[in-house]
Amino acid sequence: MDKSVNKSKGRFISLEGCEGCGKSTQAVLMKTQLEALGVTVIMTREPGGTPTGEMIRDMLQHHATGENITPAAEVLLFAASRAQHVTNVIRPALEQGHWVICDRFVDSSLAYQAGGRGIPLEQVLAVNEYALDGCWPDVTLWFDVTVETALERMADRGAHPDRFESEAGSFHQKVAQMYGVLHKCFKDRIVRLDASQSIEDIAAQVNACLRAKVGADL
Ligand code: TYD
Repeated sequence: MDKSVNKSKGRFISLEGCEGCGKSTQAVLMKTQLEALGVTVIMTREPGGTPTGEMIRDMLQHHATGENITPAAEVLLFAASRAQHVTNVIRPALEQGHWVICDRFVDSSLAYQAGGRGIPLEQVLAVNEYALDGCWPDVTLWFDVTVETALERMADRGAHPDRFESEAGSFHQKVAQMYGVLHKCFKDRIVRLDASQSIEDIAAQVNACLRAKVGADL
């Protein structure tokens, strides 16, 4: 069968979930499949995605100064990285008709800073609305796994944990819970995938979602 996609319009897909949910593996598979349909795919991530964003990422994940980063500063740093990313990378790519796959975006701030840190959701949302300037994803894939599975997968990675990975299980529970809340708040945009399944089964869920939401004939 001739596989096709509407190439006149760029699409913005963000990937979300707890650590160890498997979204980065799926991002690579998704990119290959979309490219086979003839679209140009820009794969990017947050925090990061621009030189300034990568510097902010380093500050946020490893806090090299040893100074405590306040919750408010954390929200603003993530949002600053996002504003750079939207203006310099994401919006220009979409305007050229490219597809953007972003590994974490605004919902990570809502889940980690509002959910995990306990900052009021409205405040985190307000700062991010400013940073996004209307550039919301067309679809957000939420790779939902239990916190137990996420923590096991994190432990299996064996690498040095970063500032977020080192947080207690209760922090990750609150993050996971907030993803559930966001899924209810943004019903049209956020699609829940069962990420406890095998890589192949999760990929099948991703493809079904992209067919339904962004018209990709996968
Ligand atoms: P990363 O190594 O990219 O994590 P993962 O492989 O799980 O995607 O680290 C990014 C960390 O930053 C991750 O723990 C989630 C956190 N984060 C926030 O707290 N708020 C945000 O807005 C973003 C984008 C990430």
